[in-house]
Amino acid sequence: MLIRLKPQYPIRPSEITPEGVYHGRRRFLAQLGLGAIGLAASACGKAGAPSGAPQPQAAGDSAGFKLDKRTDMAGKEAPTPYEDVTHYNNYYEFGTDKSEPAEYAGTLRTRPWTLAVEGECDAPGHIGIDDLLKLFPLEERIYRHRCVEGWSIVVPWDGFALGPLLARFKPNSKAKYVAFTTLYDPKQMPHAGGVLPWPYREGLRLDEAMHPLAFLSLGLYGKALPNQNGAPLRLTLPWKYGFKSIKSIVRIEFTQQAPQTTWNISAPDEYGFYANVNPGVDHPRWSQKTERRLGELFKRPTLLFNGYPEVASLYSGLDLRTYF
Ligand code: MTE
Repeated sequence: MLIRLKPQYPIRPSEITPEGVYHGRRRFLAQLGLGAIGLAASACGKAGAPSGAPQPQAAGDSAGFKLDKRTDMAGKEAPTPYEDVTHYNNYYEFGTDKSEPAEYAGTLRTRPWTLAVEGECDAPGHIGIDDLLKLFPLEERIYRHRCVEGWSIVVPWDGFALGPLLARFKPNSKAKYVAFTTLYDPKQMPHAGGVLPWPYREGLRLDEAMHPLAFLSLGLYGKALPNQNGAPLRLTLPWKYGFKSIKSIVRIEFTQQAPQTTWNISAPDEYGFYANVNPGVDHPRWSQKTERRLGELFKRPTLLFNGYPEVASLYSGLDLRTYF
């Protein structure tokens, strides 16, 4: 197994994820009868990569974005270094090990790319990624990102609020939810295996999707998104566990019913539809009270809604232990 190490890390990436969690996910895959596939995929390591596979986009490859404004929404915390944000990833279509997406996601073709917006709306349509990039002024938001596994990062994301984009397609009165789908193409994602039911799917209530914090990221650190981070467009939902922030989106659908979501289908008792960061509701197999920032040795307390209390009114009256 290949693990990229940053010299300043006091510990290895596999140790940053609490060991119980790390092995817990492996056990979970094994319980699904898929562990062998996942382990085999990571055991393949470099030797398993298709020869001549394009390499992931390097940091300097993309033209810098012209950003309209920059907002620090992470309380002046230093952002996690670019190298770490782009080499410690969850993108199971490219492998289950944290180092694999950076290694293998170069096979993802992000041009041409079309986003379809359909369902309960009066103006369904398709939009190409380069037109999407020009729709709204691009802004940078520095957000905290908390993975359900217990690690976290601080990232300057570039893009625009999700709400104004959705509004252009005129959701009608039947639209109560929004469903998101990732591209799934086994030719471009030869390391995906059978670990999860593909395509990767996520969903939000419409009012959550319209909340000003819900963000569509097209870049990070002022550059186009690297493939391993979900190029060419992904959600960024800083108050929810990271698995809600679906990558490489090809389809958005307004629906009347709550859409099915990948991790909820896979393990409904462990991964809820809401997935709001909540130190008061433990994962059945590990505590959610604390987290470890990548690159830090000691854990810190996890905050309700990941420290974004402005979303609390979305959930007033809901028992967050039931609607987890
Ligand atoms: N989107 C897709 N399509 N596939 C995935 O495996 N992983 C999720 C989320 N979006 C995932 C995904 C999880 S578990 C997390 S924590 C974040 O992406 C990780 O984002 P990052 O790799 O940019 O830190």
